[in-house]
Amino acid sequence: MDRCRFNYIDVEITVYFSPNHLDELELRDKIVIAIDVLRASTTITYAMRAGAREIIPVATVEQAMKIVGNLHSTSTVLCGERGGKRIEGFKLGNSPFEYTEEAVQGKALILTTTNGAVALTKAKYARQCFVTSFVNLSATVEALSQVTDVANEHLVIVCSGLEEAFSLEDATCAGMLITRLQARFGLRALDKLSDSARAALSVYAQYGSDIYRTLLESDHGRNLSALGFEEDIRAASQIDSVPLVPVLEQTAIKKKLIFSEALRLQMEERNPAREVRKPERIPSAIRKEKVV
Ligand code: MLT
Repeated sequence: MDRCRFNYIDVEITVYFSPNHLDELELRDKIVIAIDVLRASTTITYAMRAGAREIIPVATVEQAMKIVGNLHSTSTVLCGERGGKRIEGFKLGNSPFEYTEEAVQGKALILTTTNGAVALTKAKYARQCFVTSFVNLSATVEALSQVTDVANEHLVIVCSGLEEAFSLEDATCAGMLITRLQARFGLRALDKLSDSARAALSVYAQYGSDIYRTLLESDHGRNLSALGFEEDIRAASQIDSVPLVPVLEQTAIKKKLIFSEALRLQMEERNPAREVRKPERIPSAIRKEKVV
């Protein structure tokens, strides 16, 4: 991508730290990045990697049951959590490790989670919505670079937060994403960054040096640890471990943008962040695939 082609300084970036008071019409026609590090975004990325056909996020358990009832399909799977635990009668909970090929390949997943699914339902009028967490951060930057006329876009990062409040892990991820975007596109000026975006940068500066520890010690991390999900926290802290971006269009995630290891290498060369392990040099070209 030729950095000089666009005046990237015009890109506007706003962060919402919780979706709860966000009117869905505010996201209309925007490019939205939805973040729920613990755990919905991480889990959705794992599920798409494992070959889920589509994922339909819904806000309530009742809606999930209604949709599955209407679909009458054996290839539909009810998934989700309340209080971090699998909902009674649902096949899968919200641990990324449950979303194996065996469990989800070719299936439509109806997913309801406490915060992450709510954020995604708010993005139904967005022009495009990328599902992001630490596991696919660089892939998200690359996906954003492919948005037509990104120079004139207003990027809106929606953190899922925790029960209507701020969450450290999502804010840290938002700040890291903005830092990567600045490195990728040469966003030197902060003119178009909202106060919230600047706050996310400060959170990342404070908490971004040890992502695993930040996640583990966050409110939600402590809840998950108490429930025995420490491995999920470890998985969610693995930066760029799944180079794939699920894309929500209206009410369903049916598409994924896949980037190869070569992307990871390129991103790291452009942006030699300390927190990324040096991957082996893999000569293959960037591979992008759309599944509709
Ligand atoms: C959520 O959407 O609130 C989370 O993904 C909860 C969880 O960790 O299961």
